[in-house]
Amino acid sequence: MTDTPQTCRWQVYATADALQADAVRIISAAAQSAINARGEFHMVLAGGSTPRAVYESLATIRTDWSAWHIYFGDERCLPPNHTERNSSMALQAWLRHVNIPHMQIYMIPAELGAVRAAQEYARLLQGLDSFDLVLLGLGEDGHTASLFPGQQWGADPGGPAVLAVHDAPKPPPERVSLSAWRLSRARQVMFLVAGAGKRDAVRKWRAGDTIPARAITPEAGVEVLADSAAAGENGES
Ligand code: 6PG
Repeated sequence: MTDTPQTCRWQVYATADALQADAVRIISAAAQSAINARGEFHMVLAGGSTPRAVYESLATIRTDWSAWHIYFGDERCLPPNHTERNSSMALQAWLRHVNIPHMQIYMIPAELGAVRAAQEYARLLQGLDSFDLVLLGLGEDGHTASLFPGQQWGADPGGPAVLAVHDAPKPPPERVSLSAWRLSRARQVMFLVAGAGKRDAVRKWRAGDTIPARAITPEAGVEVLADSAAAGENGES
């Protein structure tokens, strides 16, 4: 649970294509800004299917890939290279097609099991204070990453940075997730929400219900890019 207020900036797009195009623009700009300022860009990837088209477009942008560092917001406890792993989708859609140094793509070792993988990834993250950009999705029940209703979300900064998730309602049941506070340690957080299936979760979120997505509370607030199908609007922003 979290008692830190969340600042949400909603942007509604008439189509998923328009949402994805703007997401690529925002990610490219965030990367350029970080590289100009600090010589590196640290980005956390969202899982699920919504980001796929964004990742495919990112494979075509012009940027200094040697400065990119890629992390995962969550991972499913499946064998390495399993097609249902979040990392598999990102690799297939984007990361295999660009020259980000292999050592700068930090996979969650979810094949070790949720508890050991969470411990190992938390150790890896100790070397980084703040992400530059965190990308997140929204589940139909309001979950984000692998933070599910009725489970621990890790909103307390004194708690673990990475959580072992058991009995997840979205298969597979065993997962690893960055905690809400660790996902919030970011200069920018952007949610990608598309499709009518997310309408109920969006309605609850905008009504102020305590869904897991609300536990993401970076200082700068969050951007939520939603298409009109998910927002239940006719595309007017
Ligand atoms: C996962 C994701 C999860 C996802 C949402 C939305 O492992 O599935 O981390 O949080 O982002 O469930 O999924 P879709 O984009 O497929 O709707």
